[in-house]
Amino acid sequence: MLDLFQKIEEAVAAIQEKWDKTPKVGIILGTGLGGLVEEIEEEASLEYEEIPNFPSSTATSHRGRLVCGTLCGLPVVAMEGRFHMYEGYSLKQITLPVRVMKAMGAELLVVSNAAGGMNPYFNCGDIMVIEDHINLMGDNPLIGINDDRLGPRFPDMCEPYDLGLVDVALEIARKENIVANKGVFVAVAGPNLETRAEYRFLRTIGADAVGMSTVPEVITAVHAGLRVIGMSIITDQCLPDALKPANVEEIIAIANKAEPKLRTLVKGVLQHISSN
Ligand code: HPA
Repeated sequence: MLDLFQKIEEAVAAIQEKWDKTPKVGIILGTGLGGLVEEIEEEASLEYEEIPNFPSSTATSHRGRLVCGTLCGLPVVAMEGRFHMYEGYSLKQITLPVRVMKAMGAELLVVSNAAGGMNPYFNCGDIMVIEDHINLMGDNPLIGINDDRLGPRFPDMCEPYDLGLVDVALEIARKENIVANKGVFVAVAGPNLETRAEYRFLRTIGADAVGMSTVPEVITAVHAGLRVIGMSIITDQCLPDALKPANVEEIIAIANKAEPKLRTLVKGVLQHISSN
């Protein structure tokens, strides 16, 4: 994808035809978590099909719309629905929207997802503020010739998630009586859920929650020089010695039910940014 730069420019041009502001924040809303867009004072929206080079979203409970507007006084672009590796897209395709957000001028990426909780202290519906990640997808969006205009060949990953913003989010959670913990997120390719042996392994290597997204976008964001904050909603408990079959409808229902908590935390973080 040596023509990535051009693809980004084409997508940016199509969006700017409808909305010519400079976003401060890019937001990616995960499975069952699209509700936050209701809070955006919408100024323009584009179906993914209308944006050149954007893949179209096929996953359950993902709408496939880019919403541009104002949230907590800040110009934002928000993806209602994201792309996943298990849909068959390359990680370069999946992360194109992050490149587009950066090219439009965004400085911060907010990512959310529904995740399986492996830390036994986590309950369904709790929030995990991501403090670090492990990439076990077996792929990387930065593989290939590096375009130095987009970022460095060997991006540093000592703090992919802004730890100051992690603390801000946890403080808001405490004030709002929302159960939230920080933790390590591990990304796998999916689409199957994990075996007991895999959960045991993932927990042993240091992960608190597992999911099939987010890490490609965050790697790309760090490469591009964006600050990042990420949050997972724990939708099911993945304890190898007490594992029940996962029910995808239930996972989505739990994500939907917990979504207002995510809204509160994201809005709190944006308010913090807008007043600092
Ligand atoms: N694995 C297990 N449980 C989950 C996942 C996952 O990837 N996503 C949401 N719940």
